[in-house]
Amino acid sequence: MFARMVEMGIYVLMMFMAVLYVCNAFTPIDNYLIDCGSLSNTTVGQRTFMADTSLSWTLTTSTNSMANTSSNSVSSLYQKARIFTNPSSYSFPIKQQGRHFIRLYFFAFSSQSFKLSTANFSVSTQDSVLLHSFPANSASTPLFKEYSVNITHSTLILSFVPTANKSLAFINAIEVVSVPDNLISDTAQTVNPLGNYQGLSVEPLETVFRINNGGPLVTPANDTLWRTWQPDQSFLLDKNFSKPVSYSGNINYAASSGVTREIAPDVVYSTATELVSTISTTQNARFNVTWQFDVDAGSSYLIRMHFCDIVSTTLNELYFSVYISSYSAVSNLDLSAASANVLATPYYMDFVVKMDDGLSKLNISIGPSSLDNVLPDGILNGLEIMKMNSSGTAHVVSPQGSKANVGVIVGAVLGAVAALAIAVCIVFTLLKRRRRSRMGRKPNTKAWLPFSINGTISQSLGSRFSNGTTATLGQNVSLGYQFSFAVLQEATNNFDEAWVIGVGGFGKVYKGVLRDETRVAVKRGNPKSQQGLNEFRTEIELLSRLRHRHLVSLIGYCDERNEMILVYEYMEKGTLKNHLYGSDLPNLSWKQRLEICIGSARGLHYLHTGQAKAIIHRDVKSANILLDENLMAKVADFGLSKTGPELDQTHVSTAVKGSFGYLDPEYFRRQQLTEKSDVYSFGVVLLEVLCARPVIDPTLPREMVNLAEWAMKFQRRGELDQIIDPRIAGTIRPGSLRKFGETVEKCLADCGVDRPGMGDVLWNLEYVLQLQDAESGFTDVDSITRIDELPTQVQNINTTESVTVGVLDQSANDLSDVSMSRVFSQLVKSEGR
Ligand SMILES: *[C@@H]1O[C@H](CO)[C@@H](O)[C@H](O)[C@H]1NC(C)=O
Ligand SMILES: *[C@@H]1O[C@H](CO)[C@@H](O)[C@H](O)[C@H]1NC(C)=O
Ligand SMILES: *[C@@H]1O[C@H](CO)[C@@H](O)[C@H](O)[C@H]1NC(C)=O
Ligand SMILES: *[C@@H]1O[C@H](CO)[C@@H](O)[C@H](O)[C@H]1NC(C)=O
Ligand SMILES: *[C@@H]1O[C@H](CO)[C@@H](O)[C@H](O)[C@H]1NC(C)=O
Ligand SMILES: *[C@@H]1O[C@H](CO)[C@@H](O)[C@H](O)[C@H]1NC(C)=O
Ligand SMILES: *[C@@H]1O[C@H](CO)[C@@H](O)[C@H](O)[C@H]1NC(C)=O
Ligand SMILES: *[C@@H]1O[C@H](CO)[C@@H](O)[C@H](O)[C@H]1NC(C)=O
Ligand SMILES: *[C@@H]1O[C@H](CO)[C@@H](O)[C@H](O)[C@H]1NC(C)=O
Ligand SMILES: *[C@@H]1O[C@H](CO)[C@@H](O)[C@H](O)[C@H]1NC(C)=O
Repeated sequence: MFARMVEMGIYVLMMFMAVLYVCNAFTPIDNYLIDCGSLSNTTVGQRTFMADTSLSWTLTTSTNSMANTSSNSVSSLYQKARIFTNPSSYSFPIKQQGRHFIRLYFFAFSSQSFKLSTANFSVSTQDSVLLHSFPANSASTPLFKEYSVNITHSTLILSFVPTANKSLAFINAIEVVSVPDNLISDTAQTVNPLGNYQGLSVEPLETVFRINNGGPLVTPANDTLWRTWQPDQSFLLDKNFSKPVSYSGNINYAASSGVTREIAPDVVYSTATELVSTISTTQNARFNVTWQFDVDAGSSYLIRMHFCDIVSTTLNELYFSVYISSYSAVSNLDLSAASANVLATPYYMDFVVKMDDGLSKLNISIGPSSLDNVLPDGILNGLEIMKMNSSGTAHVVSPQGSKANVGVIVGAVLGAVAALAIAVCIVFTLLKRRRRSRMGRKPNTKAWLPFSINGTISQSLGSRFSNGTTATLGQNVSLGYQFSFAVLQEATNNFDEAWVIGVGGFGKVYKGVLRDETRVAVKRGNPKSQQGLNEFRTEIELLSRLRHRHLVSLIGYCDERNEMILVYEYMEKGTLKNHLYGSDLPNLSWKQRLEICIGSARGLHYLHTGQAKAIIHRDVKSANILLDENLMAKVADFGLSKTGPELDQTHVSTAVKGSFGYLDPEYFRRQQLTEKSDVYSFGVVLLEVLCARPVIDPTLPREMVNLAEWAMKFQRRGELDQIIDPRIAGTIRPGSLRKFGETVEKCLADCGVDRPGMGDVLWNLEYVLQLQDAESGFTDVDSITRIDELPTQVQNINTTESVTVGVLDQSANDLSDVSMSRVFSQLVKSEGR
């Protein structure tokens, strides 16, 4: 538990570091900087390399030779060397196990007594050989080597072993520095064959190239982890196809899924090499921008690509494809979707590639997307190529078994396998539905009633929307009601920009009025977005199976002319968020707020339990809770929903989605998506409801930026009453607040297993409401009246909730409203005693 708290603490700290601009904020726990063979300490930038003579305890050697050169052409670290003629070693006590950079500085100069260019030696740790034999061709220039090694011992022993009796070993300077644990995750995507590589966390890595594309040389003093980033111009195969771009605004680390300045600093993300979009966008003018690197044939490499959309002026403009060694790595990468729909948000992807034997050139390319109506474009902001020790194929697992990976869109699974899977799945679904339609007169209560396969119901609805709408029941039995494009054009005043009521990752949402005066919300997908198409299918698939009074209902859809349009019931009062802050809307009372929370909890509970397979919403937030004219809450936006691995295979994007500030830290850390991730996000919503402030507000003082973190401090101290929205502060009964605070705290538990299920949350919120009512009613009324009152309440709940019960009882759900109300009445009674 303590370790978890520490982990949580580090996570929160990283969040803060992302939110607040702090340069060089990372302080390595282990930080050894050694100037070998030197008599005095050497300061480089802001760091001091200590003379190893004053650190003789670190050095084990039988020879004690040092040399220096008067050459001033190289940095002072290279001007002195320690020389070994026998196996020798440095040992470093390690305070924090985990990844460390081991950086080695070599310069084979000649002094009176030694000719270092004749040296031939190896360098190794207890676990791995870093350098097999010192390269003879590096005589006249300094050689810098950087390794990233997961050290699991309490001491690192770095050995220098001359390979033959007469040969030398030498070293000019050494760094052994802790690295943040999240810098290298355990998994990466493989490109050939497609799959997931697991086991990176124990892999020693050698940095062979680290590139700041389109930008200047970044020296260690300018990097958060004292790394060096080279410019990319000399690696470009044809400079005519690209141009460097730079951005002077702020890089939005806060909006990213966990990208920090330690992953790469601002200067990397704010410059890029962009594919030159030609004015004539004919098919012939399409080309790739390619960088080429010399690598070792047969070896495996971890390739990290850094992206940040600093070139677009609006979202969903930039789509491009990425290739590694001519293999497709990502098709039609949608940076808007990948980076939480905020421009200038950093994002990175990791790939493992094994070079073919005999192939010593590594090509990295970006090229135009294959989507229609998208300008040829593409960017790359940074690139790291790290050599792996192992073969790179040993731990590849097939995509079927893989989990969602932080920062990785498995967009590349657009290969034949995925296509086949989608096709099989669609055929299967159609067959299944057709069989069902042949089998049953009896409407399947689980299916989506008004628009289900049952023709009569649909037709009666068709007449409701009679004017100008077309019901094509024959072909689209599975997907509900189909609108013609013309009807929706008319309903939305030809997609009038002034009628836009919302914009999301999927596209814009318009207000619409059908001819029979029915008001609808029309969600028009961005036709360019490949991911959008998948989300469109997901949403229709899901919504046609779901029906609940606390979920926003789908009325129909339109897929004419490659359009992806969803038509929803119109929610008069807009989002919960708007009612809480940032607008002039009238204040909601505590009771109204609780009822909204209870309604949303019911909707989510149904999502989690109403189907054979739990549906995880993935983006629970106050902006996705909509209110109807009676302020009844309905959960919206299932575009991000997914039911689990089966569905996942047909949906190629498995990037971490969700909104910053609501994201379950466990999901974030372990990439395990469960219903409890929704419970966490819902806990954050509850706090928003109580405090009426944004979940992340960078303008506030540091300790207040993150709502969940800030409010939980108050809750733990029992001072939640101090941060209540001032407009309702005096109206909340202490018992009600106490129970509410406890519920929130449970939802926000660090580990999913410690969080309650949505059913429990719902139950607790009902209780919070009862406590508010109970206390107000019962303080001056005697207990006999109280008991008389309760059955009426129960009855009321029964009638209003009858629809819900009807649906819920399909799901083997033991928490029916009736039994819950009974429990409440008992609790209220005992509480009153
Ligand atoms: C180098 O710095 C360390 C720590 O500041 C100090 O203990 C040591 O005496 C210095 N060595 C020399 C040679 O100045
Ligand atoms: C450089 O080496 C010479 C002997 O080769 C020695 O006398 C001198 O002190 C050394 N200088 C430094 C700065 O180590
Ligand atoms: C690295 O690879 C070499 C052989 O290529 C092997 O002997 C060594 O054990 C490996 N080291 C690690 C840490 O896997
Ligand atoms: C270094 O030593 C090894 C083993 O003795 C030998 O195979 C290799 O060729 C030598 N390298 C050079 C550059 O002399
Ligand atoms: C190095 O020399 C020792 C004795 O001087 C000898 O036993 C050993 O075999 C030699 N090693 C090599 C690699 O030549
Ligand atoms: C280092 O390796 C151990 C297993 O030996 C692993 O548990 C740990 O997560 C790794 N650390 C990092 C930072 O990858
Ligand atoms: C690096 O830092 C120095 C000062 O610390 C600054 O003058 C310089 O502009 C920085 N360079 C880049 C590329 O950020
Ligand atoms: C690149 O452009 C320059 C002038 O714009 C032209 O002279 C040169 O031939 C071009 N190079 C290639 C490889 O097309
Ligand atoms: C870009 O490179 C990939 C891989 O080599 C290739 O399949 C694709 O056709 C190229 N695209 C263009 C427009 O040249
Ligand atoms: C790298 O790309 C260039 C240009 O597209 C191509 O000519 C070359 O064959 C490629 N090399 C490899 C090793 O894929």
